[in-house]
Amino acid sequence: MARYLGKETTRVDGVAKVTGKAKYTAEFQVPHVAYGFIVQSTVTKGRITAIDIRGAEQAAGVVRVFTHLNARRLGKKAAAEGPPQWSWPLQSDRVFFNGQPIALVVAETYEQARHAARLVKVSYQREAHSTDLETVLDRAQPDPDTAKSVPRGNPTAALQAAAIKVQSEYRIPIEHHNPIEPHAAIAFWEGEHLTIFDKTQNVYGVQEHLAEGLGVPAENIRVVSPFVGGAFGSSLKPNYYPSLTAMAARELKRPVKVVFTRAQMFTGHGYRPQTIQKVTLGADRSGKLQAIVHEAFHNTSSFEPFSDNTTGFLKQVYACPNLHAPLKVSATDLATPTWMRAPGAVSGMFALESAMDELAYALKIDPLQLRLINYAEVDPESGKPFSSKALRECYRLGAEKFGWKSRNPEPRSMRDGKLLVGWGMASSVWGALQMPASARVIYRADGTASVTSATSDIGPGTYTVMSMIAAEFLGLRLDQVKFELGDTRQPQAPAQGGSWTTSSVGSAVRGAALTITAKLLDLANREAASPLRGIAATDVEMFDGRLRAKGDPSRFVDIAEIMRRTGTSEINEVHNSTPSPERAKYASLAHGAQFVEVKVDPDLGTIRVTRVIEITACGKILNPLASHSQEIGGVVWGIGMALEEATEVDHRTGRIMNASLQHYHVPVNADIHAIETIFVEEEDTIVNPLGVKGMGELGMVGIPAAIANAVYHATGKRIRDLPITPEKLL
Ligand code: MOS
Repeated sequence: MARYLGKETTRVDGVAKVTGKAKYTAEFQVPHVAYGFIVQSTVTKGRITAIDIRGAEQAAGVVRVFTHLNARRLGKKAAAEGPPQWSWPLQSDRVFFNGQPIALVVAETYEQARHAARLVKVSYQREAHSTDLETVLDRAQPDPDTAKSVPRGNPTAALQAAAIKVQSEYRIPIEHHNPIEPHAAIAFWEGEHLTIFDKTQNVYGVQEHLAEGLGVPAENIRVVSPFVGGAFGSSLKPNYYPSLTAMAARELKRPVKVVFTRAQMFTGHGYRPQTIQKVTLGADRSGKLQAIVHEAFHNTSSFEPFSDNTTGFLKQVYACPNLHAPLKVSATDLATPTWMRAPGAVSGMFALESAMDELAYALKIDPLQLRLINYAEVDPESGKPFSSKALRECYRLGAEKFGWKSRNPEPRSMRDGKLLVGWGMASSVWGALQMPASARVIYRADGTASVTSATSDIGPGTYTVMSMIAAEFLGLRLDQVKFELGDTRQPQAPAQGGSWTTSSVGSAVRGAALTITAKLLDLANREAASPLRGIAATDVEMFDGRLRAKGDPSRFVDIAEIMRRTGTSEINEVHNSTPSPERAKYASLAHGAQFVEVKVDPDLGTIRVTRVIEITACGKILNPLASHSQEIGGVVWGIGMALEEATEVDHRTGRIMNASLQHYHVPVNADIHAIETIFVEEEDTIVNPLGVKGMGELGMVGIPAAIANAVYHATGKRIRDLPITPEKLL
């Protein structure tokens, strides 16, 4: 009987967060700090022909103005050898996107730096640019990551032979992550040793990146990031500001702090790329899919490759013998995209699940029934069995809870007064990923434990779930365990991303605790009178300061006593966890089903998402409280993606026009109505020792399609380009 795992647990860091004790990057106090403000290009492509910094240098409080003319060279390659990477700023006179950092003004105060930044005068030689994927589609190149994937079966022939076909194009604009906490770094040097506070999802990634950029050994660099105010992928890759901040601090021999403005968040880290997807589905008259041809295009920058893996997961959703789902990428004169919440999957599934709805209407088959007809019993890509898959139960339960069977499929047939009512559904998919990770557990004779791993907690509740896992396997109360993260002095962990943290880091914490259990058993059995003699380490457990036989709590030793008698003050164990070889024999995915009701005002075109039921199957749920929060957050983001979010680029100037939370719309309270999230738990002994799958990204995956499908049902209008704003319905 688990003490913590599977039970609703409030956040162990909750009080620290709501009382201001939790320190976010910009809040660290470093004596004698100077403030940097980034100057950005105002043209989209070209060269800086002159940069006049005299006015800025003479402004009050200014310490130094860094430009490409005086900045230290970063990275292994000199700038002359090729285009500079995203992460190495001020390396040449080239401008690759509008808003590119071109100078850093450092001053005694933030206000002085910001003021002086406006006094930097820049002349450019402009070149013609293209910032719209639509205009550069002909230059698209196969994405190297996914080009290896060959078509399944013979999709062309199968499409020709199919009795029923639907073919459509779907468009998703650029979207930007807008976490509450902006990017920030504070860097200071002590001799050749750098300490940097950085808002990041990956302290080890930033360490490696800075080691390369600054030419110092990684072990001389400490990256600290204990709290992150949301990130969603925006802090997965090292952005350009940590190297900029560290370089300035090194030159000035003084701590430097750089904090982004909200507007800078729109050019400072990447974005969900613009996608165009051409989907053709062929089926027989019974609804069985015969062929899926799903071509995706998205943009990247002119100087770095990027793949969103748009068509990766969707290949594994339906049992279809013939499939081709290539991804092609075109260069645009914009910043490089990056991963954004449910990258690829949410974009790809918007197109596929919209197309499935179109096919259901073409066949006059219920959309849910169509999914069941094409249910994948085994992974259609590899033919491997799933380590677990409770999607069928998600469909059943969701339909029942939602009342799906009373849906009249006819568009515009359901009303609430003058409002048009629409019901739509979709499926979701995400990986059940696991990465190598390590964790340290120190168990002390006084019955307390310190647990560390250099992971991150961008909001999902990692502090809490790691404390729960440690407490569970060490047999301690939650308040006897202290879990710390976000520091390169701790054992290495992967970036917090991909919804793999609990599976990866949690397995390492569990592994360390079990090793400590085994070591305690060895200590106990050094004594001839040990009541645990002859018992295997897997058959004992720690509980409330005792090491006891599982199933026979009367056979136990007192851990503190054993440690005292053997002169052991603490046991310090680092455990490295890696995916098991057994996993490779199976396909492991997380799935879900979404049922959505919308009400549309036929005069105004306004849409309200009045009811969402989201059912997900993602293994075992360790902390239902935080897990439901993850899924609700996913649904809210899905509503934003479906109805509101779009980064507007003026393609004539290449500038982003809505770089603010006033004009970049995300859902607010008034946009959110009833949301119910339900887990169908899966017993999965293959996927990892904890039986957990990812859930954070999964939560939003089917939502945009379910909403678009509901809008079609309500209005008879099929909107294939997001967001579904009112004017598209009028
Ligand atoms: Mo998420 S896009 O893996 O931070």
